[in-house]
Amino acid sequence: MAMHVELKLVEQDEDGIDLAFRAEVLQGLSEAQKAIPARWFYDMPGSELFEEITRLPEYYPSRVEARLLETHAGEIAELTGPGRVVVEFGSGSSVKTPLLLRAAAASAYVPLDISGEFLRQASRTLAVDFPQLAIIPIEANFMRPVRLPGSVPDAARLGFFPGSTIGNMVPHTAVDLLRSMRETLSGGSQLLIGIDRHKEVDRLIAAYDDRQGVTARFNLNLLQRINRELGGDIPSDRFRHVARWNAEWSRIEMHLEATDDLVFSVSGQSIRMAEGETIHTENSHKYTPDQARLLLQASGWTPIRLWSDPADDFMLILADATEHRSAP
Ligand code: AVJ
Repeated sequence: MAMHVELKLVEQDEDGIDLAFRAEVLQGLSEAQKAIPARWFYDMPGSELFEEITRLPEYYPSRVEARLLETHAGEIAELTGPGRVVVEFGSGSSVKTPLLLRAAAASAYVPLDISGEFLRQASRTLAVDFPQLAIIPIEANFMRPVRLPGSVPDAARLGFFPGSTIGNMVPHTAVDLLRSMRETLSGGSQLLIGIDRHKEVDRLIAAYDDRQGVTARFNLNLLQRINRELGGDIPSDRFRHVARWNAEWSRIEMHLEATDDLVFSVSGQSIRMAEGETIHTENSHKYTPDQARLLLQASGWTPIRLWSDPADDFMLILADATEHRSAP
C-alpha cells in the first residue's frame, strides 16, 4: 500500500521562481565575502552530479557509511526495535535508505527534501522494492521544524540523517537543526546520524577536488542553475572550483573563484567581482567522535552508540531524545 501524498511546503511566485532561492542568492552576492548556501546545489542536475560524486574513488564517505550500515544492521535493529516511522532528512540515496528500512523493519518512510523532483523520483524507485511500505514524501526545508501530516502513522520515530550533511552547517546552526529535528520527530524518538571524521588534510582535499573534475562541475552547476532559474548571465567559464581546508573551523570550504574582473546580472541586479575574488559555496565540517557526541548532547540528543570503520574515516551515531538531565 505505497501511498504518494505529495505535500509541498515550498513557496513560488507566479513564474514558478523559488522565492527563497532568489532572496538568498541576491543577499549572498551582495555581501563582502560572497556566499550562497550549499542547499541550493541540489536541483535535478546538481543531485545527479552529487550521486556521481558518491561513486568517485576519492570520495570515501558514502561507501564507508553504507558499509557501516550493512555491518551493524543487526545491532541497529536491536537498539531501534521494529516498526518505527523512519523520517529521512534529505531524500535518500538508493543505497543507504533500503539498508536502514530493512534493518529497522520500518512501518512507514517519510523522506523530507527541498528538491521536489528528486524526492518524487527517489520515492518511486523505493516503492518498487518496498511495495508494502507506506511512503509519504514531503517537499520541505527541514532547517525549521516540520509539522508531519496526519497520514504519518502514530508510531515512535527514527530520524535518519546520513551522509554527513550536518557538516554543511557551522556548529551553531547544526545545533539549531538538531533541535528542530527533535521537535519534528517528537517524544520517544531516536536519530541515526552519519558524520565525517577529522583526518589528514590531503585526503580531505582530494575528496573535494577529484581528478575527474566531477566536484568542480557540481560546484559550477550552481552558477548555471542561477542563470536558468533566476534569469542570470553569469559567465561560468570565468570561474574556477577551489577546495581549501580551514583549520580554525575544522572544515573543507568550496569556493568559486573569478578568473577575471567580472560584471554580470542576476534577476536584474548587477554584480561585480574582482579577479581572484570568490563565492563561498559550501562548508563541510569534520568532527572527532568526542566533538560529535558533544554536538548531539548540546542539542538535546543523547548518544547511545557510535560505530566507526577500521580506518577511522566516518562515524554513525544513534542517539535518543529522552532527557537525561542529571541534577541539578
Ligand atoms: C552531502 C554535504 C555531505 O559535504 O561531503 C560532496 C556534499 N560537496 N562533495 C559533503 C559534497 C562536495 C557533501 N554533503
